[in-house]
Amino acid sequence: MKKIIIALIVLIGLVSGSIYFLNNLLVEKQTLLTQKKPLIVGFSMGATGEERWFKDGKLFIQKARELDAEVAAIFSDYDVEKQISQIENLISQGVDVLVVIPSDSEKIGPAIEEANRYGVKVIAYDRLIKNSDIDLYISFDNVKVGELQVESILSVVSKGNFAYIGGSPTDNNAYLLKEGAMNILNPKIEDGDIKLVINEFVADWKPEEAYKIVKDYLDSGKSLNAIIAANDGIASGVIQALGEKGLAGKIPVSGQDAELSATQRIVAGTQTSTVYKPIISLAYKAAEIAVAMANGQVVETNTYINNGEMIVPSYFLDPILVNKDNMMETVVKDGFHTYEEIYSFIK
Ligand code: BGC
Repeated sequence: MKKIIIALIVLIGLVSGSIYFLNNLLVEKQTLLTQKKPLIVGFSMGATGEERWFKDGKLFIQKARELDAEVAAIFSDYDVEKQISQIENLISQGVDVLVVIPSDSEKIGPAIEEANRYGVKVIAYDRLIKNSDIDLYISFDNVKVGELQVESILSVVSKGNFAYIGGSPTDNNAYLLKEGAMNILNPKIEDGDIKLVINEFVADWKPEEAYKIVKDYLDSGKSLNAIIAANDGIASGVIQALGEKGLAGKIPVSGQDAELSATQRIVAGTQTSTVYKPIISLAYKAAEIAVAMANGQVVETNTYINNGEMIVPSYFLDPILVNKDNMMETVVKDGFHTYEEIYSFIK
């Protein structure tokens, strides 16, 4: 896994500001031989923190290349100004279509306007781009992810002091997850069974912020019965805070992404669940759609979502809840992580 991540970092040019055209030499050679320029997909990734994004990048590039397209992929982390100028750069280099993971769902707008001006189609990948003219949105059903997270916690503890620690306020997914969570929590809050004693979002999905929120709460001597953590990074931060008070494994914690470390915590008993999103399905589908769009073909969608500016044709995939009971039939069966990777940790 480590090797793949390192290879990918090298491949897609994590170095800030640089654009690495994969297989550039091959592209040049092909151009000379056939005089036919391959399609270039610009992939702007406004995220780096979590291990999933390296998988997204690697699988997307793999599928695009199978379809005879090249990918100009570039990370910008959570710096939206940087992401805007990188996208402008991709457009000026003549990409045929743009796939964008926005670091900020709203502020990315000027880059999308630039793409619109040059007639470059835009696909929002995993995270919606708000209030802009985009062509398609592809993601997992994030409201469903939020519902699954809470249902898994309620199957362990259904009363008491609950904490909701959400994602980045600049990421539309953070709101969708919260919407799903509240769909399940609200009736219990209204009945008086559950009290939401922490209800916060953390900047850029930072585990250290989540750690601090839970630590400060516990330091004040108040009690806590469950934590809904919006993703596995946040779960890692809150479990660290619980661990320092001898509470890891005693208070249920949710997560999302099926990161290797989260699956290890689940089998070790300190995290209750995660939500597995088969990245291969998302990345492959997005690459197919991007290439089809660049070729002017009509693409398949299965839903619509309002982004504040327009009704966006969208494609949603289903998330899967993972706990210690179905680890083998989900992430292991799919080869997302191996049995050895997950379980060797507790031997
Ligand atoms: C993604 C999550 C990810 C989070 C932080 C969200 O938009 O849907 O899978 O954990 O960003 O990168």
